[in-house]
Amino acid sequence: MRAEILAALREESGYISGQELCERFGVSRTAVWKSINQLKKQGYEIEAVTNKGYRIVSAPDLLNENELMSVQKTEWIGKKIYYYDVLDSTNIQAGRLAQEGADHGTLVVAGRQEAGKGRRGRGWESPADTGVFMTLILRPEIEPGNASMLTLVAALAVVKGIAALTQLKPLIKWPNDIVVNKKKVCGILTEMDAQIDYVNHIVVGIGINVQNREFPDEIDKIATSLYLECGRKTNRAALIEAVCEEFERYYEKYMETQDLSRIVEEYNHFLINFNQKVRILDPREPYEGIALGVTNRGELIVDTDGKRRLVSSGEVSVRGVYGYV
Ligand code: BTN
Repeated sequence: MRAEILAALREESGYISGQELCERFGVSRTAVWKSINQLKKQGYEIEAVTNKGYRIVSAPDLLNENELMSVQKTEWIGKKIYYYDVLDSTNIQAGRLAQEGADHGTLVVAGRQEAGKGRRGRGWESPADTGVFMTLILRPEIEPGNASMLTLVAALAVVKGIAALTQLKPLIKWPNDIVVNKKKVCGILTEMDAQIDYVNHIVVGIGINVQNREFPDEIDKIATSLYLECGRKTNRAALIEAVCEEFERYYEKYMETQDLSRIVEEYNHFLINFNQKVRILDPREPYEGIALGVTNRGELIVDTDGKRRLVSSGEVSVRGVYGYV
């Protein structure tokens, strides 16, 4: 009930009367009043004016199923949401839920992670109430070889989601780091459970640094948060919703062709490496070149003295010649 009342208050730009809430949800005035009081206890500022009704003035940066459901506008993502205050990792939990049969579009969110996973076996800093730690479970009918492109789909969704809620202009460091002012604000980890020719499920994990005020020394020079960049808090539930909405849009374009042909132009538009000198940390032999953009299959095109090389994300890391980007 609380989630429905919250959603109704959010939909309304002005006041909504207690009577209307009673009629809409078929409950008594006392039940509405109780729900409003519970919301106030959680930190919502709700104004009550005689003969007008209730109006939401401000919302706390809470994360829970109620909050996530009350901001939901997506068509198929998050029809089932699993929220946990603490998890080992949303990717690990999403994998477990997928094994148990969780549907395509299921969303897993945590308040903090004790074993957040980064790419290449690294960890992901996940302190309580600071970040977005979310994973989408997908069951697309695609060839396993096409799955890695979903990471680039997610990167585009995050860029658009952040831009929708802040004044920032985030960019993508190929293939899937989101950067603001040349520092990393988001990482994406896509993992797949597949047979040689069949995808069982894919989990797309997204970690966004939102309210962090500081970072451990090891990553302080390359990491930032939305708070540090905008000087104000961004509501994490609204951010998750914005990313999911964008993901739905780009995912559908991706599924039409099972590659990035419908979105690659937009992806390249946000590519921080575009026309920049990059160092490709190829384990066989590192080399440098100019990044010319990304192909329809998500490979980075690198010009090395007139010779074009295509770089696949699984194989190598990319750095700027003078630092992280
Ligand atoms: C990277 O190394 O850049 C990828 C980081 C991905 C972190 C996110 S946080 C939510 C999800 N759960 C995890 O354990 N990892 C991803």
